[in-house]
Amino acid sequence: MPITTCVFDAYGTLFDVAAAARQAADEPDFTELKDSWPALAEHWRLKQLQYTWLRAVADAHTDFGKVTEDGLDWALEKTGLDGNAALRARLLALYWELQSYPEVPQMLRSLKDGGMNTAILSNGSPEMLVGAVRSAGIEALLDDTLSVESVGIFKPAAIVYDMVLRRFGCSKEEVLFVSSNGWDAGCATGYGFTTAWVNRAGDPVDLLPWEPVHTLGDLTGIPALAGLS
Ligand code: LAC
Repeated sequence: MPITTCVFDAYGTLFDVAAAARQAADEPDFTELKDSWPALAEHWRLKQLQYTWLRAVADAHTDFGKVTEDGLDWALEKTGLDGNAALRARLLALYWELQSYPEVPQMLRSLKDGGMNTAILSNGSPEMLVGAVRSAGIEALLDDTLSVESVGIFKPAAIVYDMVLRRFGCSKEEVLFVSSNGWDAGCATGYGFTTAWVNRAGDPVDLLPWEPVHTLGDLTGIPALAGLS
C-alpha cells in the first residue's frame, strides 16, 4: 500500500537538541561550558528519555517540560555545573526555541508538494512543540502537531502511535514514521508502521524485538522513501 502520511518525531529528529548546550557554550556569560557542553548535552538527553520511560512504566505521568527540567538538573549536577541559576534558565530558554536541522524545510516542502499528509508525533507538550515549530518556521509545512499529552503517556506506548491513525483516518501500512531515536523507530516498526531511523551519529542499532525498516544519515532521503521521486 502506498505511503500517504509522513510522521516525524520532534526532538533530535526535526530539532537539534544539542543546540541548546552548544549555543550557550558560545555565549560570553557561560564560558564554563566551553569543554563540558557535549557531556552536558548527552547526559541531559539520556536522563530526559530515561525519565519518560520510567514514568510510563510506573504510571506516574508528567509533561515533557518537567522531565526536561529534571534531566537538566541531573546533568548539571553530574557535570559539576549545578548552582548556576542563570545557566539553568538560559539552557531551558534555548531548549524552548530549538532550530530545525538545515534540510528540514525543503524536505517537508517536497512531501507537501507530493500530496503527503505531514505531522509531528512527539513526547513534547503542546506549548513546547508550538514554540519549536514556530522558531523553526515550519508551521505551514505540517498538517498537525500531535502531542502525547492527548493520551497521557510517553512513547513507545501503542496508544501514542494510535493517534496518527485517528487523526488521518489512515491504516498503519500508509504511514512512514521517522525518528532519530532508534528505540522509537524500532517500536514503531513493531506497531506496524514503515519506519526510518535518522542515525546522524552512526550509533549501533538498539537491541529490541524490532528494528527500523530504513536507516538514513539525515532527512534528505525521506521523500524518496515515501515514494516521491
Ligand atoms: C520526541 C522525543 C522522544 O520528540 O524526541 O518525542
